[in-house]
Formats: sequence, C-alpha cells, structure tokens
Amino acid sequence: MSNKEILWYLLKKKHINITLVNTVKIDNTALIKVEELSKNVGPQSMLSSNFDRKMYHYGTFPEGFSWGISSSAYQIEGGWNADGKGPSIWDTFTQTTNTIPDNANGNVACDSYNRLNEDLYMLRALRVKSYRFSLSWSRIFPDGTRKSLNQKGVDYYNRLIDGLIAHNIEPMVTLYHWDLPEALQKVNGWESAEMIDIFNDYCDFCFATFGDRVKFWITINQPQTIAWSGYGLGNMPPNVKDPGYGPYIVAHNLIKAHAKAYHTYDDKYRQSQGGLISIALNADWAEPKDVSVRREVVAADRAMQFQLGWFAHPIFKNGDYPDALKWQVGNKSEIQGLPQSRLPSFTEEEKNFIKGTADVFCVNHYTTKIVSHVTARLSPASYEYDWDFKEEEENDSPTTAIPNQKVVAWGLRRLLNWIKEEYGDPEIYITENGVATEAQTTWDDSARVFFYKAYIDEALKAYKVDGVTVKGYTATSLMDSFEWLNGYNVGFGLHHVDFSNPNRSRTPKYSAHFYYNIIKDNGFPLPDDEKQSLTKPSTTKNIKRLQMCLFVSRDQFPTRYSALRYWSQPA
Ligand code: NOJ
Repeated sequence: MSNKEILWYLLKKKHINITLVNTVKIDNTALIKVEELSKNVGPQSMLSSNFDRKMYHYGTFPEGFSWGISSSAYQIEGGWNADGKGPSIWDTFTQTTNTIPDNANGNVACDSYNRLNEDLYMLRALRVKSYRFSLSWSRIFPDGTRKSLNQKGVDYYNRLIDGLIAHNIEPMVTLYHWDLPEALQKVNGWESAEMIDIFNDYCDFCFATFGDRVKFWITINQPQTIAWSGYGLGNMPPNVKDPGYGPYIVAHNLIKAHAKAYHTYDDKYRQSQGGLISIALNADWAEPKDVSVRREVVAADRAMQFQLGWFAHPIFKNGDYPDALKWQVGNKSEIQGLPQSRLPSFTEEEKNFIKGTADVFCVNHYTTKIVSHVTARLSPASYEYDWDFKEEEENDSPTTAIPNQKVVAWGLRRLLNWIKEEYGDPEIYITENGVATEAQTTWDDSARVFFYKAYIDEALKAYKVDGVTVKGYTATSLMDSFEWLNGYNVGFGLHHVDFSNPNRSRTPKYSAHFYYNIIKDNGFPLPDDEKQSLTKPSTTKNIKRLQMCLFVSRDQFPTRYSALRYWSQPA
C-alpha cells in the first residue's frame, strides 16, 4: 500500500470527517470546486488485495433475515388489456416500436395474470420469506385516477396477497415499477408536478386496500432509470430525449412524489397497519481506477453521487441534492450561459418534507464499473456530460448475457459499506440482485449459481466482517420474463419459462435448488467436516495452495478449504 492509501485508510478508520477541496479546470474558463468528498468505502474492504477480495467466507445471516425473490407487473403479468386494464406506457411503446429484439412485448409475458397459482407454487417450493412484486397502476386505475377504479384488478392483487400470506410469504410491494398509465403520459407524465398528487392518491388507495396485509412498501423502482432512460436518453418509454433538463425535472418530481406518499403512509396508516415504506434505488459500485490518485477517488465518489446520491442524499441525509451534483450541474450551466442551474432546487420547506422519508434503505445492485476522471464536453447539455467521469468494465470478471453487466461480486460489499458510511448505518435490504443468461439456458445455469454464491457471500462479509446492517436479500428474478429493452433474449429467472408454449410452463433451474439451500441454511454455514479439520492447523504453505483452488474458473465454486484461511487469519 502506498503512503497515500495508508493515510486514506487511517482517516477512514478513525472516522475523521474529511473535506477535500479539489479544484478542477474546465475548458480553461471556469473553476469547479468539489466539496464534501464523502467517505469512500469501509476499511476492511478498502484494504483487501485483488486476491483477498475473492476469498470465500463461511457464516450465516442474522435470524429473521428476509430472503426474497422478485418480479414486476409488466414483466410477468401479461393480460395487458384483460378485465378492464388500461394501457401503460410500456404497452404503447412495445406495441409500436421496432427497437426491441423480435418486436417482443409484455402482452402475454409469463401470463401471471392467469397463472397466479403456478407463481405461488414456485414461491412456496423455494421457501422464500418474501416476494417482491409490483402493482400495475393501470390495472387498478385504468386511466391513472381513482374515478376509473377497476375492481377486477384489485381482486387479482388480493388473491395474490392472500395466497402469499397463507404460506407465510411476506408481500414486498412496489407501487410503481415503470409502467405508468398511458392516460397520465398524455398529461406529460413525470415531467409534470401534477403527478405528485396523482401518484399520492393512487398510493393512498393501495395502502387503504392492501395495507392490512402488506407491511413492506416500495414507492418507486429505480427512479434514476426512469429519469435518465425515460426522459434523457429516451430509449425507454415515454421516450423523451431531453438529456440536459428532462432527467433533473423528472427526478425532482419523483422525489417529491415519493416523499408525499411516505407522509401519507406515515400520517394515515402507519399506526394502524404498522408497516414500513421505502424506495428502491439502483446503484452500481464505482471503483476508482487508481485508488492512490485523489482525482480518481473523487471521480468515483461523484459517480456514486450522480447515480445513487441523486435520490438517496435528499431522502436519507438532508432533503437536498449532494454537493457534487450541485457543483457540477451548477457550474456547467453557468459556463453554458444559462441564467440558472439545470438542477432544480428545493425550498427549505420541501427539504424538511423530503428528509427522512424512508424507513429502510432498499438498493438494487447488478454490477461494478471502473471510474476515472474526464473533462466532458459542454455541449449539448446532458446529465451524462455533467458527470465528468468515464466508466470502464472491470477486466478481471466474467461477462454475462448483458455486455455491460459483468460479475464483480466484491463490488457489492464495497457498495454496502459505502451506504453504511454515507447514510449513517441504515438497515439495508438488497431489493434486486441477479444475472442475465442467454434465453436458451434451461435448467443448467451454473453461471447463475456462481453469481449467487459469490454475491451473497459478499453480502455476508459486509454483514459479518464489516458490521453493515444487512436485513434482507432479494434475488432477481423469480422466472425468466420480459426483460425490457432486451425482450426475451436474456433471462434473469431462477425458473425457466417456455415462451413458445401457450401454457408458459415453468421449470426450476439449477439456481433455484441452490437458492433454496442458501435460504434453508440462512447463508453458508461451516460444513461439519470442515469444523473437524479446524482442530489441525494448516501450514501457511498449505493455505496458499488451497487458496489457489478458488475462483480459478466460474465452474470451480468456492470450496470448503477457504474456511481454513478465515480460521487461521481471522478477519
Ligand atoms: C432492474 C429492474 O428493476 C428489473 O425490472 C429488471 O429485471 C432488472 N433491472 C434486470 O434488467
């Protein structure tokens, strides 16, 4: 370790709150001050060498750990216009676009609207403790508002929720997972601040209707994806291409909409229903390209702030955007000659309203990027040019069926540590984590088994070794389903679905059996024969040799031998 790294580590370890003031020249015309470099990662994971970070750790999660699995309405339900359901922006998009492979859509998908019992059967067989699914807003309110209430839609979700409760599976309900009622898009969707009240009324209805049984609510899934892909890049519906302004306006409305729904729950339902409510934020881990170069560490921190902090900072910290966003967007806007920042600001009253509006921290995580500083172009104005960093793939990790989602398990541990440090040790639920394999993958998904074994072990290290308060883990997903812009070309499922079969037959993959065992064991307990062998210490040489067995290839799953290392060198 270099001196700089040691210093960095010591500062972290002592929890000294450091403020770095970094001056960056942009275009030779302006200076940007980057303040409040937040704490980067927990000391344990920061210190680990490339080799150490791949070591295996045995142990179990705390009692009552919430093992779950996920899906979302548009991806699985089908029945796109059944029994009075109104269209959503995803129905409109998939039925008119030709950008999705095979012009796929969710008209039938897994047909879960008609196959609820089959879904329940899979969930029971897996013995999950919770099931994360979403409500299709336009199945409940076809035109997005209460006056269009569709009782058949409500009945469907009542059957699903009752079926889960009957088998002791906790419903973890996402109120909004991207499928905005088309009727609301006609009045400008999330670009309009009117959505705040409209969303609140929909949530209010759901709390009143399902809240006697639903105790875990997630208001919005991945608002960063909605804001950037939906209103910046425009590759997802509603396909608005306004990269300089759209994402910031939409994020502003989404944050306020979330906060309002939280307060509605808090004021009207919490006391009688006793549940909790949060928002599911997506976060890749951003690893600095060179941890000994301050500029790269600052750039990686900025990457965390632009993706996760954009939403988490207001909600979990002080009701306001992170300084990194305010500086970057503010200064770029100034250089662009604009009268004010493209990043809107909250009033003091709004900040107080937003701050603290989540009971637990819900994070969706898939991959890690290697981040370094760049000075990005100024024109056209764009969220992505506001970042001033670039992302590369980690080159020592397996690829997946989605090219930019490599399997970098150690990134999860660092992410969890970062959340703990940055947001004051919240209770964390990993609300999505999973890997895509080719659609042809039927039962033999050893790549997915490798993925879960490695990622869940990193969550275990974060909990056991680093003391992160990890309360739950949700595998994505219950079964192969409509994978948004990838159509049916890839699958995240622990169950295979035969989309060519009208019955949409479901078959457990190898990973389903594997996940079942993890749940049964509550993690990775030390095998009995391993406990025996611990009575005889191994030589260092032996340990080194055994270490070499680990992670040689994705087929070579971490072996029991790794326990020796943790026994002889307790972390
Ligand atoms: C995140 C989304 O929330 C989920 O719906 C999707 O299946 C996964 N990404 C994988 O693409």
